[in-house]
Amino acid sequence: MAENQTDGFRVLAINGSPRAGEGMTDIAVKRFLAGAESTGASTEVIYPAKMKIAPCQGCLNCWFKTPGVCRHRDDMQSLAERMGKADLVVFASPVYVDGMTSQMKKMFDRLVSFAEPFFMFEGKRTYHPGRVSRPVRSVVISVCGFPEREHFQAISLHFKRIFQNMHAELLGEFYFPASSIFVSNPPVVASQFEALERAGREAVENGQISAETIEAANRDYVEDPGAFGEQINELFHNLRRYYKAE
Ligand SMILES: Cc1cc2nc3c(=O)[nH]c(=O)nc-3n(C[C@H](O)[C@H](O)[C@H](O)COP(=O)(O)O)c2cc1C
Repeated sequence: MAENQTDGFRVLAINGSPRAGEGMTDIAVKRFLAGAESTGASTEVIYPAKMKIAPCQGCLNCWFKTPGVCRHRDDMQSLAERMGKADLVVFASPVYVDGMTSQMKKMFDRLVSFAEPFFMFEGKRTYHPGRVSRPVRSVVISVCGFPEREHFQAISLHFKRIFQNMHAELLGEFYFPASSIFVSNPPVVASQFEALERAGREAVENGQISAETIEAANRDYVEDPGAFGEQINELFHNLRRYYKAE
């Protein structure tokens, strides 16, 4: 995409961490957005944790009684509108108990009111058609505390299934284990974050992210998970002593 064509391009990041604005997910999201901003695109981060979003009650009023209108009058409408206006949506969540945070899941549950109830059958799979015709172009960013990549298995599958249902295009997934390293030893993850920034730039400029960039951002950086665990345990014991709980 030529430079002037990226003006007006909107990137919306939805960060599901309850530590809104202060967590490790933020550090990763900001690098991606820095790349997007370098092209002239506008960016916005929203935190479901800071918004009033009631959990879905499963009443299905939004499907039958008042089609498209949820019984809850809260911030979900404005979140969905902002999502609808974005050219690219970054879905970011730390791993919580092997999945996305409840703040983010609550948001996806409420998006059900933006789907029609009818069963559509396509490619051997049933889905609900959306009310919004414009497909969402998306990126996933997640971080977790444990050092192995396998802790992203469930969240990755979950996001992929959601995007399939939404008919959203997934440009790339970016996973960062051992998230405390972002602050305890930033150089270890420097090249991965540079690639993440590049990914943000490519997503806006090219409408896609190259396989090389995705691979570079997801390259392993925890050489010895056992040694990493020992360092973390020492820190945890020190914290207990600091709080006089040990
Ligand atoms: C309730 C809770 C559940 C968590 N579950 C996992 C988990 O299953 N696997 C893992 O590797 N890390 C887990 N973590 C660690 C977080 O993913 C990690 O601390 C991450 O940096 C939090 O993101 P944030 O800093 O953006 O808030 C959990 C943390 C909390 C508070």
